[in-house]
Amino acid sequence: MDSSTTEERASFARMVDGTADDYRIIGRSNRQYFEQLPDRVLAHLELLAGDHGGFAVSRLEHSLQTATRALRDNRDEEYVVCALLHDIGDTLGSTNHADVAAVILEPFVSEKNHWIVKHHAVFQGYYFFHHLGLDRNMRDRYKSNPWWKDCAEFCAKYDQNSFEVGYKSESLKFFEPAVRSVFSEIKKSIYLPTGDSESSAGFLGEGEQAHKKT
Ligand SMILES: [Fe+2]
Ligand SMILES: [Fe+2]
Repeated sequence: MDSSTTEERASFARMVDGTADDYRIIGRSNRQYFEQLPDRVLAHLELLAGDHGGFAVSRLEHSLQTATRALRDNRDEEYVVCALLHDIGDTLGSTNHADVAAVILEPFVSEKNHWIVKHHAVFQGYYFFHHLGLDRNMRDRYKSNPWWKDCAEFCAKYDQNSFEVGYKSESLKFFEPAVRSVFSEIKKSIYLPTGDSESSAGFLGEGEQAHKKT
């Protein structure tokens, strides 16, 4: 039978009428859905294979090259996953793709890695904005930020140079364990259990699948 017909459901029509029992059902369902987040991320990355955006390689191949170069430069797992996902917003964020990637990653990565992903589009502009009548030095708006050099380095070493036809990238399958690892541990979220109430099992996990890193 279709699970959508057997799944336990809350009974309220208006949230104002919701009970603790309703939210035990909703919390359980949400935790199961959260556990599948890496699957949805990987499936969304695959969508990037469908477009080249005029570049020599597809958006997926560009992402794989960026992550592979970071990996081969001995970057840690979290950095490599950020590199893999940095353009995941290309499908829906046509005017702000870096912001889309940044919000997806934000609960799971350091503030520094989040900042790099969020600002990489401006920093990448150093390599092409002048061909489009834009200011290639737009990144200098952030010159006083302590992570300016890190974002400039990400673009210089891994992003601007990852349009190479024939580069031997690792596959999306190869990166799957790293994606699952990074998306299993929440660093910050309003939905994390606070531990100060019996009903604080949370929306996202009860300690074993998802927990706050110390
Ligand atoms: Fe980008
Ligand atoms: Fe990119």
